[in-house]
Amino acid sequence: MQFDDVVRTTGTVRYYKPDPVPTALLARVLDAARWAPSGGNRQPLRFIVVRDTVKKRQLAELYLPIWERYVAGVRQGAVRVGARAGTIEHADHFARHLADIPVLLLVLARLADVHPTDRDLGRLSVVGGASIYPAVQNVLLAARNVGLGTALTTLHAAVEPELKPMFDIPDDISVVAMVTLGWPARDFPRELTRRPLSEMVFADRYGVALEAPSP
Ligand SMILES: Cc1cc2nc3c(=O)[nH]c(=O)nc-3n(C[C@H](O)[C@H](O)[C@H](O)COP(=O)(O)O)c2cc1C
Repeated sequence: MQFDDVVRTTGTVRYYKPDPVPTALLARVLDAARWAPSGGNRQPLRFIVVRDTVKKRQLAELYLPIWERYVAGVRQGAVRVGARAGTIEHADHFARHLADIPVLLLVLARLADVHPTDRDLGRLSVVGGASIYPAVQNVLLAARNVGLGTALTTLHAAVEPELKPMFDIPDDISVVAMVTLGWPARDFPRELTRRPLSEMVFADRYGVALEAPSP
């Protein structure tokens, strides 16, 4: 696939066929993670490929109550979402069928290997994630490139203490995301819904739109 097509159509896939993903293809997709940048090239990422039915069910059972609390917040207007109409219903279906997805990829990181330069600013520290999520995005793009669908979720991070013993995750390794992976049961979007460039790219000063022809 062309890079532009990959990047514009790597949408969240919430409906999957039950067909298995060949291990060699999975390895090729995961290999993309290795090439991401990380602070000091410390490469904090680790993955657990979960295909075992019992373990997938355990992950699904941990996910559902957190999802239900989140969605209640959305429905009461306490949590703002910019998602398309229908997304909550699709995400609800996803939450209830998580265990049926062929691969649940647990994303882990060794936090001693991240160096958050914004730790002391008295606001939410996000820089640590800059050594983690580029690698995850590489996986999403590599999967799309071979026709596999993915969805990135971070809800499991909230139940890390319960999750760790289930997968023998060492003390110094944290749960940072889960990515579902499989053959999509519906078509990929032709193009994702995103904010226009003029609203997010500024020239020399915040708020001054970059004058550029539409790509
Ligand atoms: C940090 C993060 C957490 C997310 N968590 C969930 C989740 O728990 N459940 C879900 O169905 N989608 C989740 N998503 C997917 C987003 O809902 C999705 O990216 C967004 O609605 C845009 O839709 P699109 O990717 O199809 O364009 C998450 C995405 C990110 C980046």
